[in-house]
Amino acid sequence: VEAALADGPLKGKHVLVTSGPTHEPIDPVRYIANRSSGAQGTAIARSLAALGADVTFVTGPADVAPPAGVKVVKIQTAREMKEAVDAALPADAAVFAAAVADWRVANASGSKMKKDGSGKAPALEFAENPDILAAVSQMKKGRPKLVVGFAAETDDVEANATAKRARKGCDWIVANDVSPETGIMGGSENAVTIISDEGAESWPRLTKDQVAAKIAAKIAEALS
Ligand code: CTP
Ligand code: CA
Repeated sequence: VEAALADGPLKGKHVLVTSGPTHEPIDPVRYIANRSSGAQGTAIARSLAALGADVTFVTGPADVAPPAGVKVVKIQTAREMKEAVDAALPADAAVFAAAVADWRVANASGSKMKKDGSGKAPALEFAENPDILAAVSQMKKGRPKLVVGFAAETDDVEANATAKRARKGCDWIVANDVSPETGIMGGSENAVTIISDEGAESWPRLTKDQVAAKIAAKIAEALS
Protein backbone atom coordinates (compact mmCIF):
# COMPACT_ATOMS: atom_id res chain seq x y z
CA VAL A 1 0.00 0.00 0.00
CA GLU A 2 1.35 3.39 -0.97
CA ALA A 3 1.21 6.01 1.77
CA ALA A 4 -0.26 9.29 0.57
CA LEU A 5 2.49 11.86 0.19
CA ALA A 6 1.07 14.90 1.93
CA ASP A 7 3.77 16.88 0.17
CA GLY A 8 3.72 14.91 -3.06
CA PRO A 9 4.10 16.55 -6.46
CA LEU A 10 0.31 16.73 -6.95
CA LYS A 11 -0.39 18.47 -3.64
CA GLY A 12 -3.05 21.14 -4.18
CA LYS A 13 -4.08 19.74 -7.59
CA HIS A 14 -7.62 18.54 -8.22
CA VAL A 15 -7.78 15.54 -10.57
CA LEU A 16 -11.02 14.03 -11.82
CA VAL A 17 -11.06 10.32 -12.76
CA THR A 18 -13.94 8.41 -14.39
CA SER A 19 -13.89 4.63 -14.09
CA GLY A 20 -15.87 1.44 -14.50
CA PRO A 21 -18.79 0.69 -16.80
CA THR A 22 -22.08 2.52 -17.07
CA HIS A 23 -25.34 0.61 -16.78
CA GLU A 24 -28.18 1.68 -19.07
CA PRO A 25 -31.58 0.39 -17.96
CA ILE A 26 -33.87 -1.64 -20.20
CA ASP A 27 -36.43 -1.87 -17.41
CA PRO A 28 -36.10 -1.84 -13.60
CA VAL A 29 -34.46 -5.29 -13.54
CA ARG A 30 -32.39 -5.33 -16.76
CA TYR A 31 -29.62 -3.23 -18.27
CA ILE A 32 -26.99 -3.08 -21.01
CA ALA A 33 -23.39 -2.31 -20.17
CA ASN A 34 -19.80 -2.40 -21.36
CA ARG A 35 -17.33 -4.91 -20.00
CA SER A 36 -15.14 -3.13 -17.42
CA SER A 37 -13.80 -4.27 -14.07
CA GLY A 38 -12.79 -0.72 -13.14
CA ALA A 39 -9.34 -2.03 -12.17
CA GLN A 40 -7.22 0.37 -14.26
CA GLY A 41 -9.21 3.50 -13.37
CA THR A 42 -9.21 2.59 -9.69
CA ALA A 43 -5.45 2.04 -9.72
CA ILE A 44 -4.91 5.41 -11.42
CA ALA A 45 -7.03 7.22 -8.82
CA ARG A 46 -5.09 5.49 -6.04
CA SER A 47 -1.73 6.46 -7.59
CA LEU A 48 -2.80 10.08 -8.07
CA ALA A 49 -3.91 10.29 -4.42
CA ALA A 50 -0.60 8.75 -3.36
CA LEU A 51 1.17 11.65 -5.11
CA GLY A 52 -0.87 14.10 -3.05
CA ALA A 53 -3.69 14.93 -5.50
CA ASP A 54 -7.18 15.80 -4.39
CA VAL A 55 -9.05 13.16 -6.45
CA THR A 56 -12.73 13.06 -7.43
CA PHE A 57 -13.52 9.49 -8.55
CA VAL A 58 -16.71 9.16 -10.61
CA THR A 59 -17.44 5.47 -10.97
CA GLY A 60 -20.03 3.18 -12.47
CA PRO A 61 -20.81 -0.21 -10.94
CA ALA A 62 -17.28 -1.72 -10.98
CA ASP A 63 -16.02 -5.11 -9.75
CA VAL A 64 -13.27 -3.58 -7.63
CA ALA A 65 -13.77 -1.33 -4.60
CA PRO A 66 -12.92 2.37 -4.97
CA PRO A 67 -9.59 3.43 -3.47
CA ALA A 68 -9.31 5.00 -0.03
CA GLY A 69 -8.50 8.67 0.27
CA VAL A 70 -10.48 9.92 -2.73
CA LYS A 71 -13.90 11.55 -3.09
CA VAL A 72 -16.14 8.80 -4.54
CA VAL A 73 -19.21 9.65 -6.65
CA LYS A 74 -21.18 6.54 -7.65
CA ILE A 75 -23.36 6.67 -10.76
CA GLN A 76 -25.17 4.15 -12.97
CA THR A 77 -25.79 5.72 -16.39
CA ALA A 78 -23.70 7.74 -18.86
CA ARG A 79 -25.95 10.74 -18.38
CA GLU A 80 -25.47 10.54 -14.61
CA MET A 81 -21.70 10.26 -15.17
CA LYS A 82 -21.77 13.43 -17.29
CA GLU A 83 -23.72 15.29 -14.58
CA ALA A 84 -21.25 14.14 -11.91
CA VAL A 85 -18.28 15.20 -14.04
CA ASP A 86 -19.80 18.63 -14.71
CA ALA A 87 -20.46 19.05 -10.98
CA ALA A 88 -16.88 18.05 -10.08
CA LEU A 89 -15.23 20.60 -12.40
CA PRO A 90 -13.06 22.65 -12.33
CA ALA A 91 -10.08 20.32 -12.20
CA ASP A 92 -6.41 20.66 -13.05
CA ALA A 93 -6.48 17.35 -14.91
CA ALA A 94 -9.16 14.85 -15.91
CA VAL A 95 -8.64 11.17 -16.72
CA PHE A 96 -11.47 9.35 -18.52
CA ALA A 97 -10.89 5.67 -17.85
CA ALA A 98 -14.58 4.71 -17.80
CA ALA A 99 -16.06 2.32 -20.35
CA VAL A 100 -19.11 4.44 -21.11
CA ALA A 101 -22.02 2.78 -22.91
CA ASP A 102 -22.27 4.52 -26.28
CA TRP A 103 -26.02 4.01 -26.41
CA ARG A 104 -28.84 3.99 -23.91
CA VAL A 105 -32.19 2.28 -24.42
CA ALA A 106 -34.52 4.96 -25.77
CA ASN A 107 -37.66 2.91 -25.12
CA ALA A 108 -36.73 1.73 -21.61
CA SER A 109 -39.73 0.64 -19.59
CA GLY A 110 -40.60 1.98 -16.14
CA SER A 111 -42.05 -1.37 -15.17
CA LYS A 112 -40.70 -4.89 -15.66
CA MET A 113 -41.22 -6.17 -19.19
CA LYS A 114 -43.07 -9.51 -19.16
CA LYS A 115 -43.16 -12.33 -21.66
CA ASP A 116 -46.63 -12.28 -23.18
CA GLY A 117 -46.62 -15.94 -24.26
CA SER A 118 -46.51 -15.14 -27.98
CA GLY A 119 -42.82 -16.11 -28.30
CA LYS A 120 -42.09 -12.67 -29.75
CA ALA A 121 -39.09 -10.79 -28.34
CA PRO A 122 -39.32 -7.07 -27.59
CA ALA A 123 -37.43 -4.64 -29.86
CA LEU A 124 -35.06 -2.22 -28.16
CA GLU A 125 -34.45 1.22 -29.59
CA PHE A 126 -31.22 3.04 -28.85
CA ALA A 127 -30.20 6.67 -28.48
CA GLU A 128 -26.59 7.89 -28.42
CA ASN A 129 -25.20 8.94 -25.04
CA PRO A 130 -23.32 12.23 -24.55
CA ASP A 131 -19.57 11.97 -25.18
CA ILE A 132 -18.21 13.14 -21.83
CA LEU A 133 -14.54 13.13 -22.84
CA ALA A 134 -15.21 15.14 -26.02
CA ALA A 135 -17.34 17.67 -24.15
CA VAL A 136 -14.65 18.32 -21.52
CA SER A 137 -11.83 18.33 -24.11
CA GLN A 138 -13.66 20.97 -26.14
CA MET A 139 -14.66 23.27 -23.24
CA LYS A 140 -14.12 26.91 -24.20
CA LYS A 141 -13.85 28.13 -20.60
CA GLY A 142 -12.41 26.31 -17.60
CA ARG A 143 -11.01 23.32 -19.48
CA PRO A 144 -8.68 21.20 -17.34
CA LYS A 145 -5.07 21.85 -18.30
CA LEU A 146 -4.61 18.15 -19.09
CA VAL A 147 -7.35 15.89 -20.47
CA VAL A 148 -6.54 12.19 -20.80
CA GLY A 149 -8.76 9.75 -22.69
CA PHE A 150 -8.55 6.00 -23.11
CA ALA A 151 -9.03 3.91 -26.21
CA ALA A 152 -9.71 0.22 -25.89
CA GLU A 153 -9.28 -1.18 -29.39
CA THR A 154 -9.13 -4.61 -30.94
CA ASP A 155 -7.64 -3.62 -34.32
CA ASP A 156 -5.10 -1.05 -35.64
CA VAL A 157 -4.61 0.20 -32.07
CA GLU A 158 -2.21 3.08 -32.76
CA ALA A 159 -3.98 4.40 -35.87
CA ASN A 160 -7.42 4.23 -34.27
CA ALA A 161 -6.20 5.88 -31.08
CA THR A 162 -4.43 8.67 -32.96
CA ALA A 163 -7.62 9.42 -34.92
CA LYS A 164 -9.66 9.27 -31.70
CA ARG A 165 -7.36 11.80 -30.00
CA ALA A 166 -7.81 14.25 -32.88
CA ARG A 167 -11.58 13.72 -33.01
CA LYS A 168 -12.12 14.22 -29.28
CA GLY A 169 -9.58 17.00 -28.75
CA CYS A 170 -7.96 15.50 -25.66
CA ASP A 171 -4.27 15.89 -24.84
CA TRP A 172 -3.34 12.24 -24.40
CA ILE A 173 -4.94 8.96 -25.33
CA VAL A 174 -3.94 5.86 -23.40
CA ALA A 175 -4.50 3.12 -25.95
CA ASN A 176 -4.63 -0.57 -25.29
CA ASP A 177 -5.26 -3.71 -27.26
CA VAL A 178 -8.18 -5.52 -25.68
CA SER A 179 -8.35 -8.40 -28.15
CA PRO A 180 -9.49 -11.48 -26.19
CA GLU A 181 -6.16 -13.27 -26.76
CA THR A 182 -4.28 -10.53 -24.84
CA GLY A 183 -6.14 -11.41 -21.62
CA ILE A 184 -6.07 -7.70 -20.69
CA MET A 185 -9.82 -7.31 -20.16
CA GLY A 186 -10.55 -8.50 -16.66
CA GLY A 187 -6.87 -9.33 -16.04
CA SER A 188 -4.29 -7.69 -13.79
CA GLU A 189 -1.90 -6.57 -16.55
CA ASN A 190 -2.00 -3.95 -19.27
CA ALA A 191 0.13 -2.99 -22.27
CA VAL A 192 -0.49 0.61 -23.27
CA THR A 193 0.63 3.14 -25.85
CA ILE A 194 0.37 6.82 -24.91
CA ILE A 195 -0.52 9.07 -27.84
CA SER A 196 0.29 12.75 -27.32
CA ASP A 197 1.46 15.66 -29.43
CA GLU A 198 4.91 14.11 -29.07
CA GLY A 199 3.80 10.96 -30.92
CA ALA A 200 3.29 7.42 -29.66
CA GLU A 201 5.10 6.00 -26.64
CA SER A 202 4.64 2.27 -25.99
CA TRP A 203 5.24 0.86 -22.55
CA PRO A 204 6.01 -2.82 -21.94
CA ARG A 205 3.36 -5.13 -20.52
CA LEU A 206 3.12 -4.22 -16.82
CA THR A 207 0.67 -4.76 -13.98
CA LYS A 208 -2.27 -2.34 -13.98
CA ASP A 209 -0.83 -0.90 -10.74
CA GLN A 210 2.49 -0.24 -12.45
CA VAL A 211 0.75 1.37 -15.45
CA ALA A 212 -1.23 3.53 -13.01
CA ALA A 213 1.90 4.67 -11.17
CA LYS A 214 3.59 5.62 -14.46
CA ILE A 215 0.50 7.52 -15.70
CA ALA A 216 0.23 9.39 -12.36
CA ALA A 217 3.93 10.31 -12.50
CA LYS A 218 3.54 11.53 -16.10
CA ILE A 219 0.52 13.65 -15.06
CA ALA A 220 2.51 15.12 -12.16
CA GLU A 221 5.29 16.05 -14.58
CA ALA A 222 2.85 17.63 -17.04
CA LEU A 223 1.19 19.73 -14.31
CA SER A 224 4.46 20.86 -12.71
N1 CTP B 1 -16.02 8.31 -23.49
C1 CTP B 1 -16.80 9.23 -22.82
N2 CTP B 1 -18.15 9.30 -23.08
C2 CTP B 1 -18.71 8.49 -24.00
C3 CTP B 1 -17.92 7.54 -24.70
C4 CTP B 1 -16.58 7.48 -24.42
O1 CTP B 1 -16.29 9.97 -21.97
N3 CTP B 1 -20.02 8.58 -24.23
C5 CTP B 1 -14.56 8.28 -23.24
C6 CTP B 1 -14.04 7.01 -22.61
O2 CTP B 1 -14.03 7.11 -21.21
C7 CTP B 1 -12.62 6.95 -23.17
C8 CTP B 1 -12.74 7.61 -24.54
O3 CTP B 1 -13.94 8.38 -24.48
O4 CTP B 1 -11.72 7.76 -22.44
C9 CTP B 1 -12.78 6.71 -25.71
O5 CTP B 1 -13.84 5.80 -25.58
P1 CTP B 1 -14.12 4.82 -26.81
O6 CTP B 1 -15.31 4.00 -26.49
O7 CTP B 1 -12.83 4.14 -27.17
O8 CTP B 1 -14.43 5.91 -27.94
P2 CTP B 1 -15.70 6.22 -28.80
O9 CTP B 1 -15.58 7.64 -29.24
O10 CTP B 1 -16.95 5.85 -28.06
O11 CTP B 1 -15.50 5.33 -30.09
P3 CTP B 1 -15.86 3.80 -30.42
O12 CTP B 1 -16.85 3.88 -31.53
O13 CTP B 1 -14.52 3.20 -30.84
O14 CTP B 1 -16.43 3.14 -29.18
CA1 CA C 1 -17.35 3.77 -27.18
